[in-house]
Amino acid sequence: MNYFTPNYPKRHAADLSGVQAILYARKDLLSIWTEDSFELEFMSQQLLKQKTFIANDPRLVKEVLVTKHHIYEKKSPQMQRALEPLLGDGLFISDGDTWASHRHIQTPLFNTGFVQNYSKIMVSTITEIADQWAANTNSSINVLPEMGHLTAEIISRTLFGESLGKEKAVVVVKAFADYQASIKQTPLSSFSSLPDWLDKFSLRSHLALRAAKKIHAVVDDIIDKAEENENQDTLLAHLLKSNDSRESDTTLTREQIRNEIIVLFMAGHETTANSLAWCWYLLSQSPDVEAKLHAELDEVLGDRLPSFADVAKLPYTRAIFDETVRLYPPVPILSRQASEDDVIRRKKIPKGSVMLVVPWLLHRHKKFWPQPDTFIPERFLAGAEPKPNKFAYLPFSAGPRVCLGKNFGIVESVLSIAILAQRFRLTLPQGTSVTHECRLTLRPKGSLPMQLERRKP
Ligand code: HEM
Repeated sequence: MNYFTPNYPKRHAADLSGVQAILYARKDLLSIWTEDSFELEFMSQQLLKQKTFIANDPRLVKEVLVTKHHIYEKKSPQMQRALEPLLGDGLFISDGDTWASHRHIQTPLFNTGFVQNYSKIMVSTITEIADQWAANTNSSINVLPEMGHLTAEIISRTLFGESLGKEKAVVVVKAFADYQASIKQTPLSSFSSLPDWLDKFSLRSHLALRAAKKIHAVVDDIIDKAEENENQDTLLAHLLKSNDSRESDTTLTREQIRNEIIVLFMAGHETTANSLAWCWYLLSQSPDVEAKLHAELDEVLGDRLPSFADVAKLPYTRAIFDETVRLYPPVPILSRQASEDDVIRRKKIPKGSVMLVVPWLLHRHKKFWPQPDTFIPERFLAGAEPKPNKFAYLPFSAGPRVCLGKNFGIVESVLSIAILAQRFRLTLPQGTSVTHECRLTLRPKGSLPMQLERRKP
């Protein structure tokens, strides 16, 4: 087998100064790392007034995300400030009792039974896209927005009982992208002594608020419709019913429901869309892997559509997904804030410090992965040696704040790869160079135009 090694951002030979690191980070969060960052176990940096630590070893990752969850539960102030105008007190950025009660309400709605039910809608939505593609073979498609519309439509139909429709999907997907492009993940004021309002009144914040308004309008419309149609068995209908104290101890206000719906939209569509886009790119550069994928699909499925039960019967398809999100973790940096003084590796971690767990580094760490920068799905097959270390592989994070939609996302991705690769191949036009863009999430830069070819009718 020949394996492909995609280009990756330049790694610096020596540490950057605090100011240099901030300036690089404001352009691209993946451009700040040194060659050493992929070998060291624990790092610290003073970013102007902000002390920052990086847990870069599986034992330390477990300590931060699991054992000491009570200390590192809170998201970093930068992350909270970046997302608060859009998500309010939504799950992704809340903590304490609010987080615990909202998570408690939603957890059962993502159990295996629910995901199995959702999978039928996933299959029909992916098949609709495949039918549209069939009418456009031998033309160029923009893979990233195409995957964004697919995953936004899946979230909308499964969780909210509402077909989003191409027009609204385009508005929402663009508004989320505009929001990300306009927020400042590393606002200068959080690292320096500049006042907050300098960030708040900047042009970019204004653009972020405009994008947030567009998203709020679409979501309000979805909630209005769900209120008229309360008998559906969707996540949104359950959240609306949780307002009824007979069903739950906790009540969510309409605004809180809106916040949770936006979290699910944001956390649920873009991460999966980015993973799928990266996957088509990696497959297009890996003919041997692609051939093995086609062989598995032909053998297990032939020409029939996959179902929920088939996901477990497609280990190579699953390994391709696992390896894609190892190389390109959609959430490449997990950031937390210490809520009390702590000690790690005999180093004092003062209350208020930022603690980072960086899947981008851990997933390519030289101690834990042979050929760390190469796309080798086989490393995720049963019996592979070395077995991937659970706390060096964190596409969905770990511990109590692990991704709520992990199983949803895996089933959706495996079904999407299977159904689309059964019928099509996506090829990259000669001479195209694919690079990344990293703000809150890691995605291919631009729209990733690829050529659509028919594999089977
Ligand atoms: C490939 C797909 C996905 C990936 C890689 C992914 C990854 C992640 C990661 C890394 C986090 C933790 C972030 C942090 O701690 O800072 C997270 C949280 C979350 N994800 Fe996902 N996610 C995916 C799909 C989904 C889907 C499909 C949904 C819902 C339908 C979802 C809902 C959430 C929610 C609600 C949280 C916040 C959980 C909490 O803080 O309690 N995700 N996700």
